Amino acid sequence: MKTNFLLRTILCFLILFSIPVFAQKESAREVILIDKDWRFSFGHSYDTKKDFGHAEGYFSYLTKTGFGDGPAASGFDDRAWRKLDLPHDWAVEQPFSESASFSHGFKAAGKNFPEKSIGWYRKKITISNDDLGKIISLKFDGIFRNSKVFFNGFYLGTQESGYNGFEYDVTAYVNYGGENTIVVRVDASMEEGWFYEGAGIYRHVYLQKANPLHVALNGTYVTSEIVNDNASITAEVKLENKGHFKGNVEINQTILDALGKQVAVNTENVLAPEFYKTNTYTAKLNVKNPLLWDIDNPNLYQLVTEIKSDGKVIDQYKTSFGIRTIKFDPENGFFLNGKQVKLKGTNNHQDHAGIGTALPDEIQYYRIAKLKEMGSNAYRCSHHPPTPELLDACDKLGMLVIDETRLMGINEYHLNDLQRMMERDRNHPSIFCWSVGNEEWQIEGGITGERITNVMQDFSKSIDPTRPVTVGISSGFKSGISNVVEIMGYNYLGNGDIDAHRNQFKNQPGMGTEEGSTFATRGIYFTEDAKHYQSAYDKKPRSTFYSIEEGWKFYAERPYLAGMFIWTGFDYRGEPTPYGWPSVTSYFGMMDVCGFPKDNVFYLKSWWGKEPILHIFPHWNWSGMEGAAIDVWAYSNCDEVELFLNKKSLGKKKMEQNSHLEWKVNYAAGTLEAVGYKNGKKVLSDIQKTTGKPENIKLSLDKENVLKGNVSVVTVETTDKNGLHVPTANDEITLSIKGGKILGVGNGDPTSLESDQFIDDIALVAINNFKEQKAESASLPQQLPNYPENEWSDAFKDRDYKKQAPSYIYKGEFDLKSNSASNLVSLFYKKIGAEAVIFVNGTKVEPSKEDSQKYILNASILKEGKTRFTLQQRHCKK
Ligand code: GAL
Repeated sequence: MKTNFLLRTILCFLILFSIPVFAQKESAREVILIDKDWRFSFGHSYDTKKDFGHAEGYFSYLTKTGFGDGPAASGFDDRAWRKLDLPHDWAVEQPFSESASFSHGFKAAGKNFPEKSIGWYRKKITISNDDLGKIISLKFDGIFRNSKVFFNGFYLGTQESGYNGFEYDVTAYVNYGGENTIVVRVDASMEEGWFYEGAGIYRHVYLQKANPLHVALNGTYVTSEIVNDNASITAEVKLENKGHFKGNVEINQTILDALGKQVAVNTENVLAPEFYKTNTYTAKLNVKNPLLWDIDNPNLYQLVTEIKSDGKVIDQYKTSFGIRTIKFDPENGFFLNGKQVKLKGTNNHQDHAGIGTALPDEIQYYRIAKLKEMGSNAYRCSHHPPTPELLDACDKLGMLVIDETRLMGINEYHLNDLQRMMERDRNHPSIFCWSVGNEEWQIEGGITGERITNVMQDFSKSIDPTRPVTVGISSGFKSGISNVVEIMGYNYLGNGDIDAHRNQFKNQPGMGTEEGSTFATRGIYFTEDAKHYQSAYDKKPRSTFYSIEEGWKFYAERPYLAGMFIWTGFDYRGEPTPYGWPSVTSYFGMMDVCGFPKDNVFYLKSWWGKEPILHIFPHWNWSGMEGAAIDVWAYSNCDEVELFLNKKSLGKKKMEQNSHLEWKVNYAAGTLEAVGYKNGKKVLSDIQKTTGKPENIKLSLDKENVLKGNVSVVTVETTDKNGLHVPTANDEITLSIKGGKILGVGNGDPTSLESDQFIDDIALVAINNFKEQKAESASLPQQLPNYPENEWSDAFKDRDYKKQAPSYIYKGEFDLKSNSASNLVSLFYKKIGAEAVIFVNGTKVEPSKEDSQKYILNASILKEGKTRFTLQQRHCKK
């Protein structure tokens, strides 16, 4: 695979090595990852012909059960569709277009692109006869969006949310001992957010086989109370009975520590729920001297729930959880395990460079690790429920989380989404707060907002009373939601008077759910609007917004505020404010879309992190600007910093808490060096050196991620002859790989319109003008005869099936847009007669080896434009 890509300073690409098929085979419950080997094709949002005739039938799948038509039918021929593995985001594969959505990063997909807004996915699975009697279900972690799922032609349901997981029971429709077809129609023509959301099955899919009496979906809930050196654990389990079992079962709850050692156990005999009913059972367990979950030591435990009948385990279900306490205090902010913790948070959307929203699990860990490296301890899932793997990464790496539902409201649509998010996520120790909304301008300042918040807040307490609720509020902090919300979520200092609000509501804790929204292009130090470049110095971005430093100082100085969440940790696609086309990603991130740090990261490392830091910028390649005054800034947590240009001191300055230092330096090529002092002693230095031109390409592998999984991030940079990174390089790089796959590429430049992915372009071309005529003989010709021109009639129309001819000839034509030798043109055909011979442009073609009804057409017999196709078929044996 070769990839051409423009490089500005640094580029990253993501490699996939082979993925093992993962099956969690437990006694009586199997959860099998079925991400591999799907077929995909675009449909159409309103032209049913281009949607493969779906929903055109006299009886639709809503009229008669099992009547899935078009691709929804089991027998549909999808051989010409593209093969792919999940997770998949079709939006990121598309080119950029000025007429596409600003908020979604100008990808030519979804809204306004009817031919790129419907995606069809099909997969065949075998289910063995041994599975008869089990409950078979499909589990989807999330599809963007409005998905309809079919199984063996049966319609299972519609899921509007692009962010919540869901499950369908397919037991009644299974073909045991044979092939079964899963079909998903995804409709991404509507947007749910004002940020890039991707399109397609972008999260994992599982096949589950369970006993009819089993732990229900997201059916466990573990909470703990710590008294002295003991944690009293309440383990709730919801059992569901989809069979006719009547009588008692044993529920065995075992807690294992991180090493797998049993630390507590509880067994109870309970009466099983009735047919199609659920019951919830509660057990109390005790963990002595628990290892608490916190940011630095994210200790986890596992609850293993076993359901036993007649001594036999009929279901087993594992729940990862942590033991910790959380508290918000209106005077002193947030407490974790009784210790005050200032929230040093970032907001983030879910997309990443090169791969859009289809993140392999390894990249979730990569991103959370990058934020932790910056000193961040909290993450707000703005503005929707994340994928479960993100929360696993936060649990395992020690990152506090605000989990946010998508839309405010009090109806089924809103409350059901909130409930499903909470039931799925409430065992994650990382989650410390639920957010039920963000910047709902229509309602936030008035009585409607107040009423909705009251309902959502009380509703969430009925699902999880252990965590508080917040809403991100922006249009003044005076009335409406802010009067009633449990934890006040201030979105931006510039949007109201935070101190005044706090003085009025002294018992209401608060935090800055959004702060910043500053603009920066990584490695750029002069704003040039014509080029859509935003300088990376941390400046007040707009009149009502503040710099990162101003924001942090405000929150750091007020103990009553629990902390703040920067908008954003990473750049994301869409919202390229203050610009528009051709900028396609945001400028707000502390890191760019690849995760490469902008200079602000070092400000945060200095005041959020624990390590000694010294970082000076800009780079020192200003050829042509000799003598001009350049702003040099230092980020550091040293007491003092001294700056040297070519060994000459430019003065030592004292660093104020949560601040930075500045010098004006007349540019001369060479070495700019900063030296940091603590207690008068030199402890650190940082250097910016003028480099030569780019001469070498350096690749470095992110070893951390390679060790953990199959995906790795490779950083590509150019260096000069002395091996120095060239910060101003902008060269085209060609990438190729052996033995793996390049998942996507990115360079973090918001104005880069190069492809993110390089995939084969597949066009499905229909054969039109289908005509037929009878043939006198049953023998098939080896050369194309001259069939009589006046005998052709429309194919399969008005044929007298009682008086069939020995063979039939069909002809049709298809339009070939291009005929280059690198095209692979395959003709797929489904034999209805006994034997057939096919001619393309008069030449006889032979079936392919792998499929006797597929013909790979050689470019030499094809030409651009109309291509003639003739088929003679014998309908019965000679
Ligand atoms: C906020 C909003 C975010 C993002 C940000 C950009 O008002 O909550 O989602 O749009 O503005 O500045």
